[in-house]
Amino acid sequence: MRSSLVVGNWKMNGSRTANAALLAGIRAGCGDAGALAVCAPFPYLAEVAAALDGSPVAWGAQDVSVHAAGAYTGEVSAPMLAEFACRYVLVGHSERRQMHGETDAVVAQKARAARAAGITPIACVGETLAERDAGATCSVVARQTGALIDALGGQMAQVVVAYEPVWAIGTGRTASPAEAQAVHAALRAQLAAAGAGDVPLLYGGSVKAANAAGLFAQPDVDGALVGGASLDAQEFLAIGRAAWAARSATMKVLS
Ligand code: 13P
Repeated sequence: MRSSLVVGNWKMNGSRTANAALLAGIRAGCGDAGALAVCAPFPYLAEVAAALDGSPVAWGAQDVSVHAAGAYTGEVSAPMLAEFACRYVLVGHSERRQMHGETDAVVAQKARAARAAGITPIACVGETLAERDAGATCSVVARQTGALIDALGGQMAQVVVAYEPVWAIGTGRTASPAEAQAVHAALRAQLAAAGAGDVPLLYGGSVKAANAAGLFAQPDVDGALVGGASLDAQEFLAIGRAAWAARSATMKVLS
């Protein structure tokens, strides 16, 4: 049985005061919201870990170095994150691919570095609007995912994959549930052929409480990677509850 997961990507947002209020709200309401995690900026991670200590909500980072240690000014390594019991790290977010020139190979190396330190990478894939318009969605996503499979081999089963169409990120324009499902089904088949058919497949791009249930009703959408809406505790919890309700409904059908 695949598990559901809703992850908040705070991006470069937050302050110590705002984070404390947000995390208190999430803690207070997380009891019926299924598996949740938040990925916060590096300086806040230790405080986020402390604020979530003893709660079921996990936390993660938004990037990681391909290197374990050394002369790499400004970088943060997977072993450093692991020292704080970091559970997840985003790799290959489109903002890093686009603004920091991260290639498929670099993203795959980051995923490998995370796994080597016992951290679960949340590997992001997705096409630009130009690629979608050119009919290249599935080939782009397959190429990005193939690089991960090649680098991780058997460890691919310990990865979370997030499909985030670049044109749906921060735009208010979500992929329709059918559009998301079509890509997720192709991803699922590719992952299954690599022995990783049960990894959680998250959808990301303008997910909110209002559109979450329709996305989670799709058979291959296991959860969400949420940007803007994850900065509001009630909105984030509502997305978590929608994922959990969809998963529980599937479990009832299967049992
Ligand atoms: P939005 O939910 O703000 O569109 O961001 C999606 C995203 O990039 C999550 O990683």
